[in-house]
Amino acid sequence: MSDDVNPYQQAHAREKAARLKAEMLLEDKSRKLYLQKQKLEESYARLRQQESAMLQNEKLATLGTLSAGIAHEINNPLAFVLSNMESLNNYTLSFQKLLRLNQVLLQTDQVPEDTRNSLAKLIDEEDLSFVSEDISELLKDTGDGLCRVRDIINNLRSFSRTQNTDQVETDLLAGLKSTLKLLDSELKGNVDLQLSLHELPKTICNPNELNQVFLNLVINAKQATENAKDATVIISSRCKNDTIFIRIQDNGCGMSDDVKKQIFVPFFTTKPVGKGTGMGMAVAYGIIADHQGKIVVQSKEGVGTIFEIQLPVVTETLT
Ligand SMILES: Nc1ncnc2c1ncn2[C@@H]1O[C@H](COP(=O)(O)OP(=O)(O)OP(=O)(O)O)[C@@H](O)[C@H]1O
Ligand SMILES: [Mg+2]
Repeated sequence: MSDDVNPYQQAHAREKAARLKAEMLLEDKSRKLYLQKQKLEESYARLRQQESAMLQNEKLATLGTLSAGIAHEINNPLAFVLSNMESLNNYTLSFQKLLRLNQVLLQTDQVPEDTRNSLAKLIDEEDLSFVSEDISELLKDTGDGLCRVRDIINNLRSFSRTQNTDQVETDLLAGLKSTLKLLDSELKGNVDLQLSLHELPKTICNPNELNQVFLNLVINAKQATENAKDATVIISSRCKNDTIFIRIQDNGCGMSDDVKKQIFVPFFTTKPVGKGTGMGMAVAYGIIADHQGKIVVQSKEGVGTIFEIQLPVVTETLT
């Protein structure tokens, strides 16, 4: 009797074991599939990131070419306008002298009366006393405006430049410290400046340009903390695997993703008119790219921003 049951029980056990095995196999496969899907998603996200970085680099390179062309075109007429302004200033001084002499002569009786009358009439009709005063102001304002245009053009040229000039062996930490000294009065009392500076190996670069980058980034950090409670800027330097890292961190307003995408675009600014030209980061980008380096940005709106400059240590010139 029991022999009759056994085959059934055996079949049942076999079937149960096979089912368990199949279930385990399925679970195993599902887990593998899930991990693969996760990996795929990660790769896709990385690819998207690289694609957007590539597009951004391409866009900036195109803008660089465009800026170089514009800067060059404006620079030539600007040079002769500036030079003409200088001559105009000198000529004006001569005419003002002549007018003053006329006015003195009019007070004397050395000039015949009818000449004196017509001169006085002319000076009065043309309001020459006012013109003489106003012309100096107009020339000064025009000169100031032209100097601003020249600065913008110079910035555009730094953004678009592709060749390193004046390369020397440099201690970047000394450069960073001297830039901070320059900003001392600007920072003092406004932000708590915390430094964590480690020695850096000497590297061949253009120190003036890199100091300009430090200046632009520190000023931005300071400006970002203007409405922050306990405004703090932390600056650090270190070197690892022949790469120099300089970090400038602030607890200021931070940036939205939309702003973050545009910071290196020339003339992009979120500051009020007259406060920023939007060239600081564009110039920094051009200089760092020229030194085969990178600027990495991390930022969160309302929390703060970290800019990290990464530069390879260069010990031999490539010529
Ligand atoms: N540390 C920072 N925190 C928050 N936003 C920043 C920071 N640095 C840069 N930005 C954003 O990037 C924009 C561009 O900066 P960039 O330095 O190029 O121009 P700017 O500071 O506006 O003007 P300027 O030409 O005077 O430097 C800023 O207007 C600001 O929105
Ligand atoms: Mg700036």
